[in-house]
Amino acid sequence: MSNAAAPVTQGPDRSDGPVHVAIIMDGNGRWAAARGLPRAEGHRRGVEALRRVVRAAHDLGIRYLTIFSFSSENWSRPASEIGDLFGLLRRFIRNDLATLHGDGVRVRVIGERAGLESDICALLNEAEELTRDNTKLNLIVAFNYGSRQEIARAAQRLAREVAEGRRDPSSIDADTLGHYLDAPDIPDPDLIIRTSGEQRLSNFLMWQSAYSELVFLPIHWPDFDKAALEGAIAEYARRERRFGGLAAKTAS
Ligand code: FPP
Repeated sequence: MSNAAAPVTQGPDRSDGPVHVAIIMDGNGRWAAARGLPRAEGHRRGVEALRRVVRAAHDLGIRYLTIFSFSSENWSRPASEIGDLFGLLRRFIRNDLATLHGDGVRVRVIGERAGLESDICALLNEAEELTRDNTKLNLIVAFNYGSRQEIARAAQRLAREVAEGRRDPSSIDADTLGHYLDAPDIPDPDLIIRTSGEQRLSNFLMWQSAYSELVFLPIHWPDFDKAALEGAIAEYARRERRFGGLAAKTAS
């Protein structure tokens, strides 16, 4: 039978603030274009915003921060831009890993590793290995990540167990499939933020976001800072989460 880790149970119990914040860091290109700068400069400034938000999340006591840094669909961009994004990831890990480790940040990576260049895989593994025992902020980097692909990978693993006679198909329910996603032990995001004014998920955490609160901000990612994060958290605090149940005052 499966030895996959059990997922964290979701439900209406929660502390005041979001435990898990996930961010679609959008608008780097538009930020650059508005200033007559190359797109690469927008991405470079995007990494600076990322550093700010990791520090802010740490200060605000957020336990899990997931960032969408390269999607399965980003391969359709020009090769030069893909090279820029991979270069930024390399530099981010080489330059920032020691600081993240010193701050007690645990780095985890979700997404498809097969087919990535070997030095990128080595850096991702190094970041996960070095920080695996850290207990402050969990920084989950979604790299070469797409939600449909993640769900398809989970379905493939389950299908293999069925084909090998190790699993009865009738045993498969939503919880079972959830066990086979890339990071089943991480709680679902409470709050998903997308910058740049676009209002969609774009293949990001679609399974895990069933009951996430979505906040769309009109600013581009390079302008994101601690105040913007606090604003999104304040908006989250005004939402009533019912998880399919009734409003608290109706239920009592
Ligand atoms: C969206 O802006 C952003 C991305 C596709 C990548 C996000 C990447 C970073 C913030 C920097 C890289 C960080 C790491 C750790 C690798 P866009 O290019 O789609 O902007 P646009 O919609 O305005 O064109």
